Amino acid sequence: MSKLFDPTKVGDISVRNHIVMAPLTRNRSPGAIPNDLNVEYYRQRATAGLIITEATAITHQGQGYADVPGLYKKEALDGWKRVTDAVHAAGGKIVVQMWHVGRISHTTLQPNGGKPVSSTNRIAKAKTYLVDNDGSGAFADTSEPRALETSEIPGIVEDYRKAARAAIDAGFDGVEIHGANGYLLDQFLRDGVNDRNDQYGGSIENRARFTFEVVDAVTKEIGAGSTAIRISPVTPSGESYDSAPQVLFTHLVEGLARYDLAYIHVIEGQTGGDRDFMQGTNPAFDYAALRQAYEKAGGKANWMVNNGYDREMAIDAVESGRADLVAFGKPFIANPDLVERLEKNLPLNAPQQATFYGGGPKGYIDYPVVEKAA
Ligand SMILES: Cc1cc2nc3c(=O)[nH]c(=O)nc-3n(C[C@H](O)[C@H](O)[C@H](O)COP(=O)(O)O)c2cc1C
Repeated sequence: MSKLFDPTKVGDISVRNHIVMAPLTRNRSPGAIPNDLNVEYYRQRATAGLIITEATAITHQGQGYADVPGLYKKEALDGWKRVTDAVHAAGGKIVVQMWHVGRISHTTLQPNGGKPVSSTNRIAKAKTYLVDNDGSGAFADTSEPRALETSEIPGIVEDYRKAARAAIDAGFDGVEIHGANGYLLDQFLRDGVNDRNDQYGGSIENRARFTFEVVDAVTKEIGAGSTAIRISPVTPSGESYDSAPQVLFTHLVEGLARYDLAYIHVIEGQTGGDRDFMQGTNPAFDYAALRQAYEKAGGKANWMVNNGYDREMAIDAVESGRADLVAFGKPFIANPDLVERLEKNLPLNAPQQATFYGGGPKGYIDYPVVEKAA
């Protein structure tokens, strides 16, 4: 049997296999509060070595889609405590993905209907997901953002620190900082979005500063062994382009090597799409070189990979040592018992896109059972 199915240690977290459930936004927590449906959904998937929750807003300002859960109010944290208890009772481990969407939001989701905040005043040609009063969901254009004042940034770093503490208090085994997919931290990292003139804009060092400040605050608060980060070096979600992603992300991982993080989570290619996707023409993004740079700088965290993996690819990645952990997204939506299916080489249910977000056209009521294993 492959090493993929053996127990291992992820920072301070002992897990029963190398299979990870990737973060999957489901828009099923009205009022930002995890409910019975969320408890059952995560409990069903507790055989994953590690569950990474759906992206979870660190503050109301960090909300960008309807019915996404939060970490910023008591009822939400009580809801999460029920989730973490259920996963632990089933023998699983669970970290929360901490999210601030930046400009990928809508005024109707923001405190007092304000503008979403970002590294820039420029609007993203991107969609967000809203739910009407009758419970039906629809995608909508994102709203025009406002660039954060330099003086506001320490406050957001503090929001991450508080959210991390709240997460641990709610029973999570750790946190994953969402640095991927064109959201706030990515909006600062990329020169295609970040047009600032202050110490958070311009050079790669300046653009990476915010992410490092967040990592620094979170690791000081909860410990590096319970802290992780997700990156998507070439994904252009939310128009998050960069002219030199290899240089940018090499700088980032070299800096991350200073911390004894639980894992670095790398989405290879375009998130949810082409694994071979890269920006520009030449050269191709080199993931092996990225890992080498991290290790050369002294980094020891588990290297987690994701995007379009199947059983054979996952076994190969872990056996060859190319990765320590493999995260599966869509396969976990359709197969709560994915680990067992992979282990026994059983057929998988195919994920159905129409069921991914929210409750579907009729609301939440008649939706949940699609992900029960056959
Ligand atoms: C319905 C859905 C929701 C997603 N939500 C998130 C999210 O909240 N945070 C995140 O970092 N990625 C999110 N992703 C990306 C997945 O984590 C993953 O990177 C992607 O699905 C590719 O992995 P896969 O081929 O195993 O599905 C989402 C993807 C899907 C399909």
